[in-house]
Amino acid sequence: MTATGNAIGPSEALGTLFTPAGKRNPYPLYEALRELGPVVRLGPKLVFVQGHDACAAALREPGLLVTDASVHRKTGMIEHSSWQCFTKIMMFSNGTDHDRLRNFSRWAYHPQSITGLRPMIEDKAKELAERLVTCDSATVDLVEGFSSRLTLAVTGELYGIPVADQLALRSTITDTTTAFEPIFDLAELADGDAGMDVLVGYMTDLVASRRREPRDDLATRMVHEADAAGTVTNDELVAGLVMFLIAGVQSPSDLIAGAIRMALRKPAQFQATDAEAFVTEVLRFDAPSQVLTRVAERDLTLDGVPVKAGARVMLLLAAANRDPSRYDEPDVFRPHRTPNRPLSFGLGMHYCLGAQLSRVQAEIGLTTLTRHFPHMSLEDEPHYRDQLVQRGLARLTVRLRPRDTRHQAML
Ligand code: HEM
Repeated sequence: MTATGNAIGPSEALGTLFTPAGKRNPYPLYEALRELGPVVRLGPKLVFVQGHDACAAALREPGLLVTDASVHRKTGMIEHSSWQCFTKIMMFSNGTDHDRLRNFSRWAYHPQSITGLRPMIEDKAKELAERLVTCDSATVDLVEGFSSRLTLAVTGELYGIPVADQLALRSTITDTTTAFEPIFDLAELADGDAGMDVLVGYMTDLVASRRREPRDDLATRMVHEADAAGTVTNDELVAGLVMFLIAGVQSPSDLIAGAIRMALRKPAQFQATDAEAFVTEVLRFDAPSQVLTRVAERDLTLDGVPVKAGARVMLLLAAANRDPSRYDEPDVFRPHRTPNRPLSFGLGMHYCLGAQLSRVQAEIGLTTLTRHFPHMSLEDEPHYRDQLVQRGLARLTVRLRPRDTRHQAML
């Protein structure tokens, strides 16, 4: 046992974090790591940041860059389809390239535009909940049957992607997110690469089709902007659309499924809280994006710890969200915390463009489903995907109605 009562020491915790067991439940490992301080230097080339204030400062530190094409060229990853595409998007660009790409599409996710999407999102959520009402089986997987369908339906509506295509692309989208995990062998990129080839092909065709036949959707508006302004190349446009598809579907689906699970685990808290505060606490308690990576552009210090130029800096957002110096009893799920401002959407110049849309989808998804199924209950232990950076439930099996209702109905 360690000083904090952890059965595991900090070095063992670091070694375990990216193993399947660590990915399943990283929280005791974050707690063990906390003994090492808010910023941990593991030699000259690797630094972990886990304290809340240190993480927030690191996100705003201009000397810490995202891993762009120059970094992925050195590792050889840029030869792979997944990173060929990701290095063309704002999330993995720095400086003027980042600003150019962000300015090109930021209008699409402006909070005012998102407010106008509420009725559409409510309709989609209601449609999916009603589909479950007519479902015969006693238990359903809500990742398959609700959370991913909702975010696919919303993104599909925005970009004009037909329902059949949405469902056909669903597992491909999840596959591409495996490229965000720490890669120890380039062969581990195989699934992400295969998925990326499909998505790039799909979006290339979509762009060509919108050029031929414009429609009233975001894809058409982005094609029009790209052609009129000439500030992004066709490859960057396609990569941007791929990113909006992946980001629009995967993390929000993970958030919705996680929120439903917490509502079922903590029904009294769910009933006593408004959906916005509840979703915020889900974001703090179990962030869909747990880790971000930065590279130091120059020698700098983080919370007094020297960081050498070229060092990789891992920002453990999910550990920062449970920093006891920021949150009382951080391992307790408590939706009434004030202030409650988790770092789950990042901070600073790369702050998530889809934060507002994700929150709105999660709030609507959660309230719509629980209204349709007030007696829903968890049927299974949580089953997470084997991913840490992009954490989320692989399945969420629930019983939609009380055990005896259907039986009584048959009598
Ligand atoms: C629960 C859902 C989501 C979570 C937890 C999440 C998380 C994040 C985080 C942590 C970042 C910061 C990355 C960094 O600093 O390196 C980020 C950036 C970004 N997110 Fe999200 N995201 C979510 C949903 C979305 C959605 C729905 C979209 C759009 C469809 C989106 C688009 C973006 C974009 C474009 C960036 C990059 C911004 C930039 O580099 O300037 N995200 N997201």
